[in-house]
Amino acid sequence: MSHADDSQGTRRDFIYYATAGAGAVAAGAAVWPLVNQMNPSADVLALASIQVDLSGVSEGTQLTVLWQGKPVFIRYRTPEEIEAARSVSVSELPDQGAENANLGDEADASDMNRSLDEEGIWLVQMGVCTHLGCVPLGESGDFGGWFCPCHGSHYDTAGRIRKGPAPRNLPIPLASFVDETTIQLG
Ligand code: FES
Repeated sequence: MSHADDSQGTRRDFIYYATAGAGAVAAGAAVWPLVNQMNPSADVLALASIQVDLSGVSEGTQLTVLWQGKPVFIRYRTPEEIEAARSVSVSELPDQGAENANLGDEADASDMNRSLDEEGIWLVQMGVCTHLGCVPLGESGDFGGWFCPCHGSHYDTAGRIRKGPAPRNLPIPLASFVDETTIQLG
């Protein structure tokens, strides 16, 4: 066999394997969406915890970050929003549980159990409606908090469900301060 034949054979083999490889990738891609629903993907696992810089967030505004594939609302609440949230008695709330991953299941939905700091300035919650998963709009709805336009759920300034079909308060993820202007999710 000449040298030329040899390299041609090598190239043919290469093309053959490349084609087989592409086939395998295509099959893998078709299966992936099913697998992906059951197992967190590698990039999601890599972001099991993230740090968020709050230094650019001003009073009365909200930062939305994507964490584990879902939006997280981080709001710097105004004194009025804090006051509105703290003046509500837990007994008036449809969901009286804090829904806060940082606290036990028995914690009630008082505003103190929803905010990240004692003064209640920072509210960190998942931006996913507890009805069917739409992303609620901020500074909206009958309670000045969040409104989910999909089926009309109203959340108050502590992210607690007040009216509409959503069964639970917006969940609060594991979160903590790393320093004065940085929080860690997860
Ligand atoms: S998904 Fe939000 S009200 Fe239905």
